[in-house]
Amino acid sequence: MTERDELTAAFRRHFDGEPRFFRAPGRVNLIGEHTDYNDGFVMPAAIEYEARTAAAARSDNRIRFFAFDLDESAEFDLDAPTPARHHWSDYAFGTALTLKQAGHAITGADIVMSSSVPFGSGLSSSAAFEVSVGYTLLALSGIEIDTVELAKLCQRAENDYVGMRCGIMDQFISANGTRDHALMIDCRSLETRAVPIDSRARIVVANSMVHHTHAGGEYNKRRASCEEGVAELAPAIGGTITALRDITPEMLKAHRHLLSEETWRRCRHVIAENARVLDAAVALEKGDLEACGALMNASHVSMRDDYEISCKEIDILVDIAQAQPGVYGSRMTGGGFGGCTVSLVAADKVDAFIATVAAEYEAATGLKPAIFSCSPMAGVSPLAE
Ligand code: GLA
Repeated sequence: MTERDELTAAFRRHFDGEPRFFRAPGRVNLIGEHTDYNDGFVMPAAIEYEARTAAAARSDNRIRFFAFDLDESAEFDLDAPTPARHHWSDYAFGTALTLKQAGHAITGADIVMSSSVPFGSGLSSSAAFEVSVGYTLLALSGIEIDTVELAKLCQRAENDYVGMRCGIMDQFISANGTRDHALMIDCRSLETRAVPIDSRARIVVANSMVHHTHAGGEYNKRRASCEEGVAELAPAIGGTITALRDITPEMLKAHRHLLSEETWRRCRHVIAENARVLDAAVALEKGDLEACGALMNASHVSMRDDYEISCKEIDILVDIAQAQPGVYGSRMTGGGFGGCTVSLVAADKVDAFIATVAAEYEAATGLKPAIFSCSPMAGVSPLAE
């Protein structure tokens, strides 16, 4: 039975009508971590793991949802919205409500969803969830879809309804991914540059199997530190400084005394990471895989020591990966505190890399990692036949 057959069978068990099918991918971020909410630069790629929906419009304003993987149902009335309840359905209902509040005349829908994006692993399972639901609701209501607007509304749903103050990266790449390319995104202007991945290299993702949870916790604290940094530095520097994006390493150095040691380190990570993204895009465009890899390694050190978002297992995984033949670079990817690493590996060394890293990581931690090579995919779309 194909995935589509399974979704169709589940749809028929739970709902009436003829379903239509949609998909939205998860992502891996090559470089540029915790820079998006600082108006900075990121360079993610959409991946093969995706959220899929089978759905049909309703004539009323109810949204009925069946999560195939959890075997659970949930329901929401757009005319009598309820607040988030710290439940998986928050992502779906928050997105629906946000679309409606933004003036999109969506109708109710019956939706079955299944997702292959591993949950809590730093591959944006929640963004894939939101973007697939948002796209599904707009498509079923016959509303023309602007995928940049869709990304912004999904981010708003996560910020305002779910309560996670994430940046735009995950929703943006899930909605706008480009096949065979990473996307360098300017998170202030939302301009993008598609950066090809040299065919001599593969992007390899390794799941540490250490799960993280962001909502309300350390993630929001990091964001608050960045805002504190801007509030302290902007008046002293003068001019129009609205985000860490506007602050150069020289400015930070000159005003270091204004910041606590912790805030200074947080700011130093973001400011240096922005520069690394710009350099990594140029390196990839020139086919300089060594230079790109060195920037990825430096990014990991900065996340580990300055931003303090890594963990013991991830550091072990990165150390093992960086020591393998054919590895250009390796770092943690995503929000942090566990989840996945991303490595840039010579195409002909990928099989050996996967086997050795899996064995060494398990020997060191007792955890069995999932390691796979991925090819950048297109963003949200109807599901192909
Ligand atoms: C999470 C957030 C993103 C981004 C990353 C860190 O994935 O959803 O907006 O901030 O963390 O780069």
